[in-house]
Amino acid sequence: MRISVIGCGYLGAVHAACMAKLGHSVVGIDVDERKIAELASAKAPFYEPGLEELLKDVQETGSLTFTTDISAAAGSNVHFICVGTPQKKGENAADLTFVDAAVQGLLPYLSSGDVVVGKSTVPVGTASRLAGVIGQSEPEAHLVWNPEFLREGHAVSDTLRPDRLVYGVSDGAEHNPCVEVLDEVYAIPLSTGTPRLVTDLPTAELVKTAANSFLATKISFINAMAELCDAAGADVTRLADAIGLDDRIGRKFLNAGIGFGGGCLPKDIRAFMARAGELGADQALTFLREVDAINMRRRSRVVELTRELCGDGLLGKRITVLGAAFKPESDDVRDSPALSIAAQLQLQGAVVTVTDPKALDNAARRFPELQYVQDVDLALEKADAVLLLTEWTEYKELDPHLLAKSVSAPRILDGRNVLDPAKWRSAGWQYRGLGRP
Ligand code: UGA
Repeated sequence: MRISVIGCGYLGAVHAACMAKLGHSVVGIDVDERKIAELASAKAPFYEPGLEELLKDVQETGSLTFTTDISAAAGSNVHFICVGTPQKKGENAADLTFVDAAVQGLLPYLSSGDVVVGKSTVPVGTASRLAGVIGQSEPEAHLVWNPEFLREGHAVSDTLRPDRLVYGVSDGAEHNPCVEVLDEVYAIPLSTGTPRLVTDLPTAELVKTAANSFLATKISFINAMAELCDAAGADVTRLADAIGLDDRIGRKFLNAGIGFGGGCLPKDIRAFMARAGELGADQALTFLREVDAINMRRRSRVVELTRELCGDGLLGKRITVLGAAFKPESDDVRDSPALSIAAQLQLQGAVVTVTDPKALDNAARRFPELQYVQDVDLALEKADAVLLLTEWTEYKELDPHLLAKSVSAPRILDGRNVLDPAKWRSAGWQYRGLGRP
């Protein structure tokens, strides 16, 4: 099939490359010239495992091109909208400027029978509004909502082998002609048994926000349990292991720590609350306010624990923060709890050094006032306290005996509960986890 992908950020760049891998002829379109130049030379503008190899692979076959010229969408029969929907400045709601601009830009190039496929995360009701806009310009074109569930760090495999496909179509019916078109797009994953659900437009939009809200709730639930474990002297990691063995609960996303961040979960739960308010259903989602509050409390809790760990206040203390990305295998620092904690510590008088295998450039752009050191050993030298805030494998594997020699005081706060407390304590470290005795 001939496919255009509009928006080449985390979602679009991966989607374009994966669609080419699935055998389609794809053009990726974005207004950002630098991004397009990088992608066109098979360079990923962000760190995503496997993406550069995939870009090289499909560009060599000629099945993937990139351009800033939206007119290149003409001739494609399927157009994926993959632009971002960030949080509006000063508000909880989602900013739909990029989605609206992408659709407007596409209108002159739509032909009869074309299918526009929305993948961006949008407030419920957006798809039916956009279907109206498209219908006015090209009555024979169609709109489908096909939410994306990929995780950063696993984006390529999540796109090539999704755990489910959701098609929201205007009448919610299996026999809608767009279903056949999308089945052809996703023929390969469908042939391996990927479940596929056809819904109406609002249900498809809600599937995405509901899924992310559930994940956020699960994380905040276990972080609330961590608060209780701290108060009661219990161990939240063993608690999670035990409740997670009930397969109705499951162990995944029950890792207590400094909480969730990134470009999706935090802004999606806020946009969901804002949209529920507009629909007069705000009460249904008031619990998400608590989910957000528990999550934010994690960050201040770590600042307080670091103060305790340092003994006599933070002023002038040399703190080394391991990890800047919002999670491992990503260089994304959007709403990163690790960086937010580093910045708060610095504001309270600590001298903070941050290290991360991939995210330092992005971190330095966001918080230029912090000190960044790429080399872990250098970053750790003479530290008064070490904070493990993003659980990269190399940090989990640090040797406490070796490390004790380079720091000025062996104190570690394990913000992701990934270290073995006994091992660190026996190497002479003062160890603190979150919700662990
Ligand atoms: C999330 C969803 O998991 C994807 O399904 C969704 O497609 C995506 O948002 C999106 O909307 O585009 P992502 O933001 O890549 O994916 O990250 P997650 O793996 O969900 O992690 C989010 C945050 O939760 C991270 O900061 C992570 O460290 C934290 N987390 C995760 C925990 O604190 N504890 C856990 O047990 C799991």
